Amino acid sequence: VPIELTLARRAIRMSAPLHPETGSAIPFDSGYASPQAFPDLTELAQRALTAYRNESLQYGAPMGLPALRDAISSYMRDDGAAVSPDEILVVDGAKQGIDLICRLLTEEGDGVVVTAPTYFSAIPILCSFGLEFIEVTQDDEGIDVAMLAQLLQERQRNGMPEPKFIYNVPDFHNPTGITMSRRRREQLLDLAARRQIPIVEDSPYRKLRFEGTAEPSLKALDSNGLVFGLGTFSKLMCPGLRVGWICTTKELLERMARLKSDGGTCPLTQRIIAEFLQGGSLPGHLQRAQRIYSSHRDAMVAALRRELPGVEYIVPQGGYYLWLRFRDGVDTNVLAARAFERGVSVIGGNVFFAGGTDSYSAQHDLPKQYIRLAYSYAAPEQIDEGVKLLAAAYYSMR
Ligand SMILES: Cc1ncc(COP(=O)(O)O)c(C=O)c1O
Repeated sequence: VPIELTLARRAIRMSAPLHPETGSAIPFDSGYASPQAFPDLTELAQRALTAYRNESLQYGAPMGLPALRDAISSYMRDDGAAVSPDEILVVDGAKQGIDLICRLLTEEGDGVVVTAPTYFSAIPILCSFGLEFIEVTQDDEGIDVAMLAQLLQERQRNGMPEPKFIYNVPDFHNPTGITMSRRRREQLLDLAARRQIPIVEDSPYRKLRFEGTAEPSLKALDSNGLVFGLGTFSKLMCPGLRVGWICTTKELLERMARLKSDGGTCPLTQRIIAEFLQGGSLPGHLQRAQRIYSSHRDAMVAALRRELPGVEYIVPQGGYYLWLRFRDGVDTNVLAARAFERGVSVIGGNVFFAGGTDSYSAQHDLPKQYIRLAYSYAAPEQIDEGVKLLAAAYYSMR
């Protein structure tokens, strides 16, 4: 008879179950990268396992491979942020970065600011630290800084402490595709500086821009050391390598390195990436990836215009996602289930909203109005068919 375990509160708090396997359904649910966009790493892997054999098969250096930290700091400098190699900690992907920042800064019951909606995999991580969510909406310029200022004032009036950090995805936000305007970035930094609240800038899609010009990163605009930058090679190259980074002061990074329980990020994949970057392969690779993902986006937008002309969404200039809003009372969580029965997998709005029952999103009934469609992973020839199936499910409910 299996023993009956008493689970920790953090394990019980996890509300949403793991997203089920898509099976044979057309995968608009998945934020997976397109296999077509993977770089060929065969030779670099071979080199990492021969020329660097002793290093690649050993435990990793606690702060990351020096060669990779150098390459990441050059990459960030090219992107406008003056970051030195000792201001970089290599981690096992941006998700581990979120976990480490929580370990560094938070106690159970602390507040954390998130957008409504927000990146859904951040929610269980933040939940596991027992954090209380402060939800802030977005418009087409990004997080609503005026609303955030008001919420912070209300909390202060009620004698509540400041939240421990503001978590935000400023470029091609997951799930909305919104990119913050420069003006809004400056307003956010200004508010954060006045209230002395750090910002976690999680920006995996920043370089997957198909058109238009990039705004400066929050890190590049930050003159007060407020921003923890989170980067990852998941979208720049491929997610299976599990390499990302955190960018802040050396002192804080050294503390986080001691809080990181993995024996060092895998030196084999770090070396492959370092060689890829040092060999100058990233710009050409990114151009190819941008072409692939923009053709996926175009195919999906064209299909939506044809099949679901009434639905609202912004057309993002990059990233992986479209965020559809149905204002006609259709419950999108039911729509997602119906669409799945017809053979296309999409994610209903629920999982993207962090708040509990008296949260902003619940009061405004937002979770039921949205679905996220990822155009990244489905093959272009599946996109048309998938949107047709989604439209058929939608019309069957009206
Ligand atoms: C906003 C955001 N942050 C982080 C990640 C995951 O990054 P990583 O694979 O580096 O953990 C994703 C992936 O979907 C994402 O959308």
